Amino acid sequence: MEKLVSNWYNVRPVPEDCIYPSEKRPGNIHVPKGEVIPVIDLSEADKGDRNRTLVIQKILKAAQEFGFFQVVNHGVSENVMDETTSVVREFFQMPDESKQHLFTQDFSSKCIYFTSCENYANEKVHMWRDFLQHQCHPLDTWRHFWPESPARYRDIVGACSVGIKNLASRILGLISEGLSLKSGYFDDELSSCMVLTALHYPPCPEPSLALGTCPHDDANLITFVLQDEVSGLQIFKDDQWIGVDPIPHAFVVNVGCLLQVISNDKLRSVKHRVVTNASRFRSSSAFFVTASEGSVIEPAKGVVNEHNPAVYRPFTPKEFCMKFFENDADTEATFNHFKA
Ligand code: OGA
Ligand code: NI
Repeated sequence: MEKLVSNWYNVRPVPEDCIYPSEKRPGNIHVPKGEVIPVIDLSEADKGDRNRTLVIQKILKAAQEFGFFQVVNHGVSENVMDETTSVVREFFQMPDESKQHLFTQDFSSKCIYFTSCENYANEKVHMWRDFLQHQCHPLDTWRHFWPESPARYRDIVGACSVGIKNLASRILGLISEGLSLKSGYFDDELSSCMVLTALHYPPCPEPSLALGTCPHDDANLITFVLQDEVSGLQIFKDDQWIGVDPIPHAFVVNVGCLLQVISNDKLRSVKHRVVTNASRFRSSSAFFVTASEGSVIEPAKGVVNEHNPAVYRPFTPKEFCMKFFENDADTEATFNHFKA
């Protein structure tokens, strides 16, 4: 467990294997106050057809231009969100003895407590983060693999997972309406899996050299991030990094690669990263909603026509993930592989 960043983060200088090459380093981590990621009040969608249409337009515009938006008044209880953040934080703060049975580098495990990412053994530079990862849908199938302590972990994360899964289906419903797909397009197989990666970012003595999460795209359908009050998440837009400011009780929602493909490039998966800071721990819980391994991903028939031919050929999420991993998370190379 000595690999865990939490067990040594106070060292100076920062270890060589956590220092990114200069072109990938964050340098000055304070991003200029520029564009703001759109914030969408989801309760408006229930206030008549006109308002619903406006919400759909806002979601699609944000998903096209930023690949990201934040949602407020989304129906997931504020108490459940606060408790999720606090129980996840508590998990990472427990003494090693209480967590060592989950610590593993075997990524086929049902519940994984580790550092950096799955590619630890092969990656050139490690990320400044520890994580806990497990499936969370359907709840009854996976819940018994989750941590038993803190004692309230399963109840709270269970309630949050159910809330987010419902929220995902609502938002995917609005997106399918906006793309003129048949109603329920994303239900069932295309959104039947959900993985939680709970992330713990210790302070870093040299934030300009290391990264909490290196620049990447999400290889799933759509992601919901519950971040605490410490900023750090940034997206890359128009050649610059913009911060995703923490808003109390908002979820950060981002388009994953599979949704980009299904929308035939109308909605965009956008590169993002997490920078560290010198004084505060940051925690976030990323819920990755995705399609079942064997389902077929392809540009939806409803978005493809003679003026807008399919950009991608059909493939399975399993094939996509394998290629993504093989390409060292290079999204462009992976997308190119699946071009029509
Ligand atoms: C991720 C991610 C964001 C965060 O794990 O894919 O982008 O705020 N996390 O930790
Ligand atoms: Ni991500």
